[in-house]
Amino acid sequence: RGKKAFIAGVADDQGFGWAIAKALAEAGAEISLGVWVPALNIFKTSLEKGKFDASRKLSDGSLMTFSHIYPMDAVFDTMADVPEEVATNKRYAGNKNWTVSEVAESVKQDSGKIDIVVHSLANGPEVVKPLLETSRKGYLAALSASSYSLISMVQRFGPIMKEGGAVISLTYNASNRIIPGYGGGMSSAKAALESDTRVLAYEAGRKFKVRVNTISAGPLGSRAARAIGFIDDMIRYSYENSPIQKELAAIEVGNVAAFLVSPLSSAVTGHVMFVDNGLNVMGIAT
Ligand code: NAI
Repeated sequence: RGKKAFIAGVADDQGFGWAIAKALAEAGAEISLGVWVPALNIFKTSLEKGKFDASRKLSDGSLMTFSHIYPMDAVFDTMADVPEEVATNKRYAGNKNWTVSEVAESVKQDSGKIDIVVHSLANGPEVVKPLLETSRKGYLAALSASSYSLISMVQRFGPIMKEGGAVISLTYNASNRIIPGYGGGMSSAKAALESDTRVLAYEAGRKFKVRVNTISAGPLGSRAARAIGFIDDMIRYSYENSPIQKELAAIEVGNVAAFLVSPLSSAVTGHVMFVDNGLNVMGIAT
């Protein structure tokens, strides 16, 4: 109860970030969000118009609230990194302090020290292209948005986290197994994210006394997943072949996230936890 959480990567009520927010709110945490700058206006408008009210409902009947909503772009660490065309882009105009270091500074000013940092974001501009056809630029963009963004967040948020705090992110088993269709270097980005989770667990564990884990989730029809194109096939494949034959609900990931940032998991760090109805343990399709 009363813990402070910052969640990066919420722009609607469909994805894992939202479900994690909900699970943490159910557990009594105070939630702040980092919303991708180009998605911020529509998210705020939808929230104000009540579009998310049904999914904001908590088990006690109250609506989940956010103490702060920050614009954020996790591919930039400081304003000095922002190229002219982004700085002057009309979707960024009117927003400020949205680089990772500035968001951490704003969170510190508004909330002081925090307990929980959630990274629930990814982006791969060439995700629909096979790795064999991926450009260097597309590959590096996937790694920048989906992997380095975690390192950047731990660098910047680590110093404002309380001892005993926890960081979690979301990964996908395309890091270990071949998932045709998950292209553009996104498979590489998830492999990097999982490896970095281990190294950051050590480094941030020693430096800030926080834990760092990642959840390897099964397929969910979020906005990001729809952009990849084959999500309905993945959901069907998972349903047909997993040990537990049911569709994955985002809140099931939210609940495991709540466990991984709670004292119940105080000795768990550097871990990749599968929340996928068990699909990863299957050797062949059934
Ligand atoms: P989502 O669309 O709800 O979340 C992705 C978020 O990332 C969006 O809110 C988007 O605005 C944000 N984002 C993109 N680029 C950004 C940037 N540069 N700075 C800040 N925010 C940025 O989709 P979903 O699926 O919930 O994704 C969350 C995480 O879950 C991602 O890491 C994804 O790879 C992972 N995941 C998703 C699976 C799925 O089937 N949906 C399966 C396994 C992992």
